[in-house]
Amino acid sequence: MTSAAERLRVAVVGVGIGRSHLRGYQAVSDRFEVVAVCDIDVEKARPVAEEHGISRVVPDLTELLRNDELDVVDLCTPPHLHFEQILQVLGSGKHAICEKPLVSSLREMDELARAEAASSKCIMPIFQYRFGHGIQKLKLLIASGLAGTAYLATVETAWRRRPEYYAVPWRGKWATERGGALLGHAIHNHDLLCYVLGAPRHLFAYATTRVNEIEVEDCAAIAFEMADGSAASSGVTLGSAAEVTRHRFSFSGLVAESNTRPYTNSGDPWTFAGDTPELDERISAALAEFQPLPEHYAGQFYRFYDALRDGGQLPVTLADARLSIELITAMYYSSETGQRVSLPLKADHPRYASWLPQT
Ligand SMILES: NC(=O)c1ccc[n+]([C@@H]2O[C@H](COP(=O)([O-])OP(=O)(O)OC[C@H]3O[C@@H](n4cnc5c(N)ncnc54)[C@H](O)[C@@H]3O)[C@@H](O)[C@H]2O)c1
Repeated sequence: MTSAAERLRVAVVGVGIGRSHLRGYQAVSDRFEVVAVCDIDVEKARPVAEEHGISRVVPDLTELLRNDELDVVDLCTPPHLHFEQILQVLGSGKHAICEKPLVSSLREMDELARAEAASSKCIMPIFQYRFGHGIQKLKLLIASGLAGTAYLATVETAWRRRPEYYAVPWRGKWATERGGALLGHAIHNHDLLCYVLGAPRHLFAYATTRVNEIEVEDCAAIAFEMADGSAASSGVTLGSAAEVTRHRFSFSGLVAESNTRPYTNSGDPWTFAGDTPELDERISAALAEFQPLPEHYAGQFYRFYDALRDGGQLPVTLADARLSIELITAMYYSSETGQRVSLPLKADHPRYASWLPQT
């Protein structure tokens, strides 16, 4: 148990998905104390703060950052604001946590990495689905040497977004959302793919807009060659009347399949089928040793605290976020040009400064 003095003092900025972050901090309240909520829409923020017993509501990030008692500022603001706000938080001497997509280009990504290296504080991107117990069990089986050689992974992101979803003014537009289903929705599921198998070395993507009248894509199909030579494919739509998310990993030793709950498929239950009865027994024995930690936002915050305390690696790093931004850049470039794209992407790539469509 952590004493009150050892808790990190946090402010959450933006009370859309920020409300889920607040619940996450509450679930690990022995490690964090949320001392302020910041949102330009104070009327929206006040009842949220009250619900969580937070007395301080601030309308402006600059004003919030004058508070020297803060240790961590958690940015849950629209994507086009992230880059400047993260720099502002680091510049004020506080750790920055920030929602996906972290930034809007590889160039911004690399600038953030330089800013972090020059600072005594850190930046933690959010990828909370990594901490579901189902995918954590697969990581345990891989670490135990039971999975073997990867053959094929399939990822399905079949969700439903109706016109009302795009009533929020920043959504659906290249200038403010910076992308569609690949950037805003499937980004998590592709992060999980790479969390298990590492980065791809090539990809081919086709993205299109068919469901809603928006600028950005809402359907896509991607083929990946992963770094280990295994194959992966991903299908994405925001027009699926029945919503599912599914990950299926075929290895020589086992097949792992997630549940299909659209927004929590990384949690239990996953099925793990061994290739032989003997492997099934070893899988059961390994899973019996599984130590469940908190999941999702609470799970990421919990591990963030441990990493800062012990000087270990953050549960999600800037390198992880760079890979997600690299995938996005490569997918849009592939879809736009019809080319297969090789990774990693360096500073000489034509879309290094921006993946936005070239007009
Ligand atoms: N990890 C996830 O599963 C997940 C889920 C949903 C959204 N997100 C991400 O979270 C971010 C926010 O999305 P959302 O759906 O909550 O959006 P939202 O529009 O519902 O909420 C954003 C909030 O930020 C506030 N805001 C805007 N500009 C601000 C500023 N300059 N200073 C302070 N507050 C400001 C707005 O008033 C609003 O309350 C996006 O990057 C989105 O992609 C992540």
